Parts: sequence; structure tokens; C-alpha cells
Amino acid sequence: MYDPSVLDPAVDFLADLAAGGRIAEFAIGTGRVALPLAARGLEVAGIEFSAPMIDELRRKDGGADLEIVIGDMATTRLPGEFAVVFLAYNAITCLLTQEAQLRCFENAAAHLAPGERWSWRSSSRHYAGSSPARPTSPSTSRTTTSASTSSTP
Ligand SMILES: C[S@@+](CC[C@H](N)C(=O)[O-])C[C@H]1O[C@@H](n2cnc3c(N)ncnc32)[C@H](O)[C@@H]1O
Repeated sequence: MYDPSVLDPAVDFLADLAAGGRIAEFAIGTGRVALPLAARGLEVAGIEFSAPMIDELRRKDGGADLEIVIGDMATTRLPGEFAVVFLAYNAITCLLTQEAQLRCFENAAAHLAPGERWSWRSSSRHYAGSSPARPTSPSTSRTTTSASTSSTP
């Protein structure tokens, strides 16, 4: 998942979506995706449940500069509005009920400026079957705006 052939296109995709705007990552982990985005000069903030994961992120280059709030991504609010909110690497499956997943989607929407983007990815067939969005393939990405939903790379 750190392989540049996997990571670089994801970072390109999110940077393009943000178009210079602020980016929020839910379940930011150790900054695998967030830090390369910040290295491109984008303002990136995150929500993360685990203090040890944040400690690890802080030890990496650029990690001291990110705004991170400790909490549950289903309910925790970052200050301000964002052009893009994203969730990577199956982290939605850390929320074990459909109700919690829906709260997370609602929380993502609450972070977005009007008309902006929410991107999440899951490669779990089990998750796909129980997702509110009911994706039809086992490896699925979705980008949603208030007006439309479309598949993404
Ligand atoms: C598979 S890692 C993904 C980390 C990062 N998004 C990435 O792509 O490398 C999942 C992360 O979700 C965090 N996490 C789990 N449940 C969470 C929750 N309810 N709210 C916020 N973070 C959570 C874990 O602590 C862990 O850092």
C-alpha cells in the first residue's frame, strides 16, 4: 500500500479533486496518504482514533504540521470547511454497524463546503454487500457530491 504505483495515483486523484482547497482525511492513521498531499502544499487535516498512530505520523517528515483531532470519525468535527473529505484503505470497515457508517457519511457531508467532494474506497466484498451505497463490485471507489455519485479510479 506504500508502493508508489498504488499510492501516487491516489494522491494525484485527491490533489486534483481538491484543486488547492483544504482536505480532510477520516482515519488518517500514520499519514500514508495525507503526508504526500501536504508535501504538495495542500492543507490537510485529519481525524484519528488512535494516539499511537498519531505519534507515528508526528515522527514523519511534515507530520508535526498537520491538524489532527483525536476522536471517532463518525462524530468528531474538524474546524472549518473542506473541499475534499476522504477515507482510504477500507477504514470505513472499522465502523462495525451500518448505523455508524451512515453517521460517518453524514459527518463527512457536514465537513464539506457546498458542492464539494467526499471520496471513500473499500475493497471488501462483505462491506460492499452491507454498504448503504450498495456498490456492485468487490473493489469500489465512490466520489459523491451533493448532486451526483460516480465511480472513480
Ligand atoms: C487501515 S488504517 C488506515 C490508515 C490510513 N487511512 C491509510 O490509508 O493508511 C485504519 C485507521 O483507522 C483508525 N480508526 C479506526 N476506527 C476509527 C474511528 N472510529 N475513528 C477514527 N479513526 C479510526 C485506526 O486507528 C487506523 O489508524
